[in-house]
Amino acid sequence: MPRQFFVGGNFKMNGSVDTIKGIVSHLNDAKVDSNTEVVIAPPALYLLLTREHLRSGIEVAAQNVFDKPNGAFTGEISVAQLKDSNITWTLLGHSERRVVLQESDSFVASKTKAALDGGLGVILCIGESLEQREAGKTIDVVTAQLSAVAKEVKDWSKIVIAYEPIWAIGTGKVATKEQAQEVHAAIREWLGKEVSSEAADNTRIIYGGSVSEKNCRELAQEKDIDGFLVGGASLKPAFVDIINARQ
Ligand code: G3P
Repeated sequence: MPRQFFVGGNFKMNGSVDTIKGIVSHLNDAKVDSNTEVVIAPPALYLLLTREHLRSGIEVAAQNVFDKPNGAFTGEISVAQLKDSNITWTLLGHSERRVVLQESDSFVASKTKAALDGGLGVILCIGESLEQREAGKTIDVVTAQLSAVAKEVKDWSKIVIAYEPIWAIGTGKVATKEQAQEVHAAIREWLGKEVSSEAADNTRIIYGGSVSEKNCRELAQEKDIDGFLVGGASLKPAFVDIINARQ
């Protein structure tokens, strides 16, 4: 069965009550491809506001979640609290958390298990640095990040993998379709070998890193690119064009 095209919008630490309301209003009025699964990830403070005003059919994701069920973890948010708020997805492992906040592969894996066990979908972010790419280590890096999760998680049916080369994030230097397809194909091969043939066939592998309305259609034609995780462009009206990239 063909994999459903998937577009996520990662607002990162951007927005205000007014601008988030404006984005939601634009999405509510937009003509979006019904064949595309759409999930938007506002800052945690605006999750309830977004869910309350956003049209049904577009899901809302947290940008992170903690791996303990509750308790003395100041500043953290639990899986149960997200579910209680009708938040159905979470991003995990974004490079900005792995690099800036030093989140380890094992911590990302533990949070992925907790999120899945609690009934959330997970957009699992992986990707290499420019130095690692230039050293020819791209596939080693991304498969190590995936292997850490495979140690904790057997059922990958609620995971969407987002390949986000760090050197393409926020730089305007989008990966070429060949670069992205090569890594996506390697990820799918890894899924087949290390998880299952079903996981290889069914897992959406989406690309993130300077995706725009100008480059999304070409990338979307690649065999193993099943959608996008969009940063800066998700805050703009042109995000709808990216959602409709396969139309
Ligand atoms: O999570 C998506 C993000 O890292 C990509 O950011 O601004 O390059 O689309 P951007």
